[in-house]
This record gives sequence, structure tokens and C-alpha cells, in this order.
Amino acid sequence: MAGMVRGAVIGTGVVARLRHIPAFQEAARRGTAELVALCDPVEAALNAAGDDAGIASRYLDYRDVLARDDIDVVTIATPNSLHEPIAIAALQAGKHVMCEKPLALSLDGARRMAAAAHDSGLVHAVNYRYRWVPAARYLKEMADAGDLGEIRQIFLNYFNAAVLDPSAPIQWRQTRAEGGGIFADIGSHMIDMSLWLLGPIRRVRCDLWTFTRERPDGAGGMAAVDVDDAATCQFEFASGAVGVLNASGLCLGRLNHQRIEVYGTAGGVVYEIARPGDLGGDVLHACFGDAQHRLVGMAPARAFPWHAGTPLDAFLDCFQAIHDRRPAAVTFDDAVRVQAVLDAAQRSADGGGVWVDLLAEDVETSPQGINPQP
Ligand SMILES: NC(=O)c1ccc[n+]([C@@H]2O[C@H](COP(=O)([O-])OP(=O)(O)OC[C@H]3O[C@@H](n4cnc5c(N)ncnc54)[C@H](O)[C@@H]3O)[C@@H](O)[C@H]2O)c1
Repeated sequence: MAGMVRGAVIGTGVVARLRHIPAFQEAARRGTAELVALCDPVEAALNAAGDDAGIASRYLDYRDVLARDDIDVVTIATPNSLHEPIAIAALQAGKHVMCEKPLALSLDGARRMAAAAHDSGLVHAVNYRYRWVPAARYLKEMADAGDLGEIRQIFLNYFNAAVLDPSAPIQWRQTRAEGGGIFADIGSHMIDMSLWLLGPIRRVRCDLWTFTRERPDGAGGMAAVDVDDAATCQFEFASGAVGVLNASGLCLGRLNHQRIEVYGTAGGVVYEIARPGDLGGDVLHACFGDAQHRLVGMAPARAFPWHAGTPLDAFLDCFQAIHDRRPAAVTFDDAVRVQAVLDAAQRSADGGGVWVDLLAEDVETSPQGINPQP
């Protein structure tokens, strides 16, 4: 499309202010997109975000945003349970959609969203943003080039301390009805990275643990916690590779720690990030099969500057995709595949940690590419 893409952010909480609004501001500097409206039913949150961003057009009800015919794209930064109704309504109203992760509360919900996206013919994108971290991009490039040989194992850790404090009041994230727990919250990012790096997963087993079983409900009482605060998951990939994922919200001192180790017949690579904003906090170490490397062990691999990336890139890619009339780099279809693994893992945990096969349709070869930088 010609001219600036005009957009609205729906939900003006933490991630909207950290990523969604700054992404529009960066896009405006690049001449691709501009923010014209904000929406949140909590007036204080709406006004704080609106005042900071200098956006006067503010709505308490997202349907009023969707009724405007001068808005091309909405970005959705609400609790997870609202992604589905808002995204489907937006697509049906003719808006391109960038949605937060995890895409939905359930696999069925994610499939309904993908169906609505396909019916609309519009751009659909999901903020699985760690694919843009420079060290991750370099790792992906090495894996795709065959530098690691036949990849046999992947180990993924994602640790923070988000749910460590038992006196913190319950939030939507700590409910199955609105959030889905730590595994859905941060484990979903690592499932996306697994699928992106190694391709489809064919079966899963999972254990989910809840250490804090009730939390203050904010009204003087206590509310039961019905989701996990730590998870361990095993994967078998269609390629024959195997993996282990640990996601935990109980890890004091770990800030926003991710570590992915990939081992193949010809090389091993370790990716890490360790800062909340992960700007410049990513590192990569690698060892390849020759004699000298084997003695040295893991040497630092320099991913910069040719693997550029920022936490705003998933948005910038989405806006560019609207201009270019092409699919976004990370689509609702990618997020359905993540949701299929989350769903199978939950069924495994509910069944005491049994192996659960994914449906054949969810093990189809997934597109693993990433589009060039906007
Ligand atoms: N991709 C990432 O790296 C990343 C990081 C953090 C959060 N997230 C995702 O972003 C989403 C929001 O997370 P958060 O941490 O900003 O949560 P938050 O609780 O800080 O913000 C959510 C906001 O949505 C608003 N809201 C509730 N109902 C609404 C409605 N009907 N219409 C419009 N707004 C409504 C709330 O009032 C609140 O201001 C979640 O899906 C989360 O998983 C993604």
C-alpha cells in the first residue's frame, strides 16, 4: 500500500508501552507506519499511555476502534484470553493484525484465528520476537547451512523470577481462564524457537509444577492458582532430533535468561541472552568438529553487525509486509504450531507425563524462513 500504515494499539499495559507504541514510533521515523489511536478499558492505563505517546484518540472499547475506517492495522497487547475475540473481530472489520503471544488460550482458538486470517486475506503476525535476536539469527543461519551437521539434540532454558514471590497478588497470567501460566507465557517463546530452528515436533511429554498454590486476590482473600509456575518438557522432532525445555518463573537473579544449546554431528552452538531488554545482551559460543576446536571447546562467535536485530523487529516486519503485500515473517500459522505443542504438553502433564503424539496436520513441514530486515 502507498503512504503510511495507520494503526491502533489495543491494550496499553506493560508490553504495549515497552514494544508496541515504540514500534509505531520507530516505524514513523522510517516512514512506514504511524500510531493514531489507543484502546484500554482501564482509563488510568489508557490515559497514562496516551499522554506519554501524545495520542489524543483514545477508546475504552475496542469495537469503537474497529469501526473506524481510517485504521489499517491493530496490534493486540491484551491478556491472552482476549486475543481471539479481538483478532477475529479486527480481521472481519478489514484490519491487518499483529497479535501478542501465545496466540490463544487453546489450539482450537488458535485455529479459529488462523481461519479468520486466511478468510480475510490480510496480514497476520505474532510477536514471537526472539527470532530476531542477532545471536539467534546467526545460530539459525549455521543450522540451515548444515554447519552443525545432522542436528540431534537441543536444550532450551527460559528462566525468570516472575512468580517467585507468593505474596504478589494473582494476575490474569496466573489463571487458566485468562493466561495459562509460565509454560504458556515464556515456554511458548522457546517452543517457537524449537520449531523455527529444528522444524516440526512429532511428540511431546511434559511435567508442570505449581509451588504457589494460592495468592492474594487483591480484595483481602486468597485465590487458588490453577496454572504452573515451572515446566519441563521433552520433544521428539520429525527429523529424529530430541529436545528438553525448562521454563521457570522461580529463578532468582536470572532476569530474562534464555539459553539454547544445539548439538549436531559436526558442531555445537550455545545461544544466550541475559538482560531484561536483551539489547546487546545476546552471546553465541560455538565449537566445530576439527581437532583444534575440540581442544579449545566453545569459542565466542561474533554475530555482529551483520545479524542486526531489535525487540521491535516483529512489528516493523509486519508493517513492511502490509506495504509489500506479503506474509509477515511470523504468522498465525506459525503460532498455531506453537499452540499445538502447548496443547499436547498440557495433555501430557494432565495425564501424568505420558508421551502425546501431535496430529499429522500439526507435524507438516513448517516454513522456517525469516524475511529480511525491514
Ligand atoms: N512478545 C513478548 O516478548 C511479550 C512480553 C510481554 C508480554 N507479552 C504479551 O503481551 C500481552 C499483554 O501482556 P502485558 O504484560 O502487557 O499485560 P498487562 O496486564 O500489563 O496489560 C494488558 C492490558 O490489557 C488491557 N485490557 C484488558 N481488557 C481489555 C480489552 N477488552 N480491550 C483492550 N485492552 C484490555 C488491560 O487493562 C491492560 O492494560 C500478553 O498476551 C503477553 O503474553 C509478550
